[in-house]
Amino acid sequence: MRGVKILSTGMCVPKYKLTNEKISTFIDTSDEWIVQRTGIRERRIVTDETTVSLATNAAKEAIKDIDPLEIDLIIVGTVSPDQMMPSTACSVQAEIGATNAIAFDISAACSGFIYASKIAIEAINCGSAKKALVIGAEIFSKVVDWNDRGTCILFGDGSGAVLYGETDENKILAFDVGSDGNLGQTLVLENQPINNLFVKNEYSPSFIKMDGRAVYRFAVNVVPKSITKALEKAQVNIDEIKLFVLHQANERIISSVAKNLGVDINLFFKNLDKYGNTSGASVPIALHEAKGKLKNGDKIVLAGFGGGLTWGSMVAQW
Ligand code: UT7
Repeated sequence: MRGVKILSTGMCVPKYKLTNEKISTFIDTSDEWIVQRTGIRERRIVTDETTVSLATNAAKEAIKDIDPLEIDLIIVGTVSPDQMMPSTACSVQAEIGATNAIAFDISAACSGFIYASKIAIEAINCGSAKKALVIGAEIFSKVVDWNDRGTCILFGDGSGAVLYGETDENKILAFDVGSDGNLGQTLVLENQPINNLFVKNEYSPSFIKMDGRAVYRFAVNVVPKSITKALEKAQVNIDEIKLFVLHQANERIISSVAKNLGVDINLFFKNLDKYGNTSGASVPIALHEAKGKLKNGDKIVLAGFGGGLTWGSMVAQW
């Protein structure tokens, strides 16, 4: 089996900052409520950016030290693409000139980056790619109902990218991933309904619907178990982990996971105060911003959870 390591990272967020105060001017909420219940203070939302442009800019930063022709595989985790076809990954491929790559999107919501990383790393492990670019890119500002205070305050737009490459000494130590479709209806973003010769449905654009408490319970239950399983597979003691980079959904979820694992909360990176929940983009954005804290050889845990419902944890060495 060929070894894999993280070669570089990149990120891109829209220019416009939407603060809690600004949201409070058009919906019945307050900065105090949002900060207390979530830890979020502001989020970025697009003005002239697109999912492809955010993903392309994050990708360009991650690949700035290599020739794009070296990239064999591009996977984008997104549930908010500009269009279903061509995929976001194919559009990014064209923008960065990675003409030797195969490119496709996957749909695993807030676990999308971890799922895509697992596919990319296994492709390198088995020799079908040497360099793989994994991107999480989302524009949730177009899929939230701006009249629903239970969801619109949570999400933000952005993209993060990680370049993985083949290496002699393997630095990706283990994964634990899972899905539970039985809980799928707790977090839903509908697509266009069927309309064909036989079936007629009314179509009006639909928005994210979420049972916030159910998703919260799921996250605080499943994430610590998943991290523990991944650490067991990696044969790494939790005390050896220098940094935990979790999906940035809610500060209270991160605190609960830290408490459940018996780990100092200061080892959990947080940037959700600035960006909110950027779904599939949140883990690579957080990793990009956290990397200044990491030294060569440091062991880290990345973990995502969300729509599907899905979850995933990865243990790696920087
Ligand atoms: O990527 C994964 C996606 N999703 C998640 O991770 C979400 C997980 N869930 C959560 O983070 C939390 O459930 C929320 C932050 C979404 C909500 O917090 P909560 O403590 O579970 O609040 P709640 O939904 O139980 O609502 C409590 C009260 C309600 O009022 P009443 O019925 O008690 O009078 C809500 O109407 O808070 C009210 N409320 C708000 N008030 C002010 C709900 N949203 C707001 C708001 N501002 N934005």
